[in-house]
Amino acid sequence: MKFDPWNPEFIAHPYDAYRHLRENDPVGFFEPTGQWLIARHADVNALLRDRRLGRSYLHMATHEEFGRQPEPEFQEPFWRVIRAGMLDVEPPVHTRLRRLVSKAFTPRMVESLRPRVRKIAMELTEGLVERGGGDLLAEVAEPLPVTVIAEMLGVPEADRHLLRPWSADICGMYELSPSLEAQHTAVRAAQEFAEYLRDLARIRRDRPGDDMISALAQVVDDGDRLTEDELVGTCVLLLNAGHEATVNATGSGWWALFRNPGELERLRADPGLMPTAVEELLRWDTPAQMFERWVLEDIEVGGVTIPRGVEVALLFGSANRDPEVFADPDRLDIGRVDNPHISFGAGIHFCLGAPLARIEMAESFGALLRLAPGLALAEEPAWKPNYIIRGLESLKVTV
Ligand code: HEM
Repeated sequence: MKFDPWNPEFIAHPYDAYRHLRENDPVGFFEPTGQWLIARHADVNALLRDRRLGRSYLHMATHEEFGRQPEPEFQEPFWRVIRAGMLDVEPPVHTRLRRLVSKAFTPRMVESLRPRVRKIAMELTEGLVERGGGDLLAEVAEPLPVTVIAEMLGVPEADRHLLRPWSADICGMYELSPSLEAQHTAVRAAQEFAEYLRDLARIRRDRPGDDMISALAQVVDDGDRLTEDELVGTCVLLLNAGHEATVNATGSGWWALFRNPGELERLRADPGLMPTAVEELLRWDTPAQMFERWVLEDIEVGGVTIPRGVEVALLFGSANRDPEVFADPDRLDIGRVDNPHISFGAGIHFCLGAPLARIEMAESFGALLRLAPGLALAEEPAWKPNYIIRGLESLKVTV
C-alpha cells in the first residue's frame, strides 16, 4: 500500500507505507497535494524547530507575493477566527498570544487540576460500568476533556454540547482537499462559534467569573495586548485543541491495548507504568498524523532542495515509528523509557496543553483500569475517514 491519505485502508494502517517512504523516499514530492512529504524523525524534528518554515507566511508576505492564491471569499469568516489564534501565527504575535495563556497550562498549574480530572473520570467510568458497557469514546473519552477545558474557560454547562460539533466541523477544513460542502460547514461552524464566544466574553467583561474567558476579557480592555478577534480565536483554539486530540488519543490508545493484550495485562498488574504507557500509546498511534509548514526560504532536507513558497507535510505517524530513534518501533512497549516521540510537536508551537493531556489520559485510563477490571472490546472499531486528525468512530466495550 502506498501513501494514500484518502484511502480507508491506508488510514487504518498507514505504517507499512510510512516504512516504505522512510526507506526509499524520505523527502518526496506528493503530486496530488503539491506537498513534500517528510518521513524521517530527524527531519520532522529539525523542520519543526526551523524558523525558515512557518505555520503561516502572512506575517511576511501577501498571498500573491508568496505565489499562492488567496482563499475564496466565502472562507473569510473561517480564516478570520483561525488566524487570530496562536497556532496559525508566527512571532511576534505568536509570542504575545502564547504568553497571555501559557501560565494556565504550566505543569504545576495543571497538576492542581488533577483531583478534579480524576473525579470526572471516575464519574464517567462509573456510568459506563452501571450501564454494563457502551461506547467508551462517547461516554468517557469525549466528555472528560470537553468538561475540563470548558470548565477552565468558563463555558456554561448548558452550552457544552455545542463544542464537539463546532470543533468537528472546523477540523473538516484541515483535512487534505476538503470537499466544498465540508468547507461551507467549517465556515458556518467558525462563524457560530465566534459569535457565541464574542457574546460570552462581553457578558464576562461586565461580570467576571474565575475563569479564563473572564481573565482574557479584562485584557481586551487594555487595547494593545489582545484584540476582540484574538480573544475569540484564542478561545476557539483552546476549546478545540483542548479536546479533539485527547479524545482520539484515548480511543486509539484503548484500541492499541486491546490489540496488545499482553501490554494491557502488564498495565493492569502495574499501574505505576502509567506515565510511560501514556507516552507509548501517543507514539504508537498518534492522533495527529500530519502537520504542515510553509517553506519561507529555500531549504535543503536530506540532500533535496525545497523551494520557498511550497508546503511540507511532516509525517508524525512515520517519525514515531522510525527505527533510527526507537528500538523495535512497531512493538507496543508500555514500559519504553527512551521515547522522544513527536506527538506533541516541537519548537515554538509545541503543544501548550501537553501537561494537561497527559493528566487527562492517565486519569481516564487509570479510572477504567480500576473500576472496570473486566473491560473488553465488544466489536472491532472503524476509523473515521479523516487522515490528518485521525480517530475511531466509536469504541464499543463490555465491562
Ligand atoms: C493527546 C492530546 C494532544 C495532542 C496529541 C496534541 C498535539 C499538538 C500538536 C502536535 C501541536 C503542534 C501543532 C504544530 O506544530 O503544527 C499542538 C499545539 C497546540 N495544542 Fe495540543 N495536543 C493535545 C492536547 C491538547 C490540549 C489538552 C490542549 C489544551 C488547551 C492543547 C492545546 C494546544 C494549543 C493551544 C496548541 C498551539 C500551540 C502554539 O501554537 O504555540 N492541546 N498540539
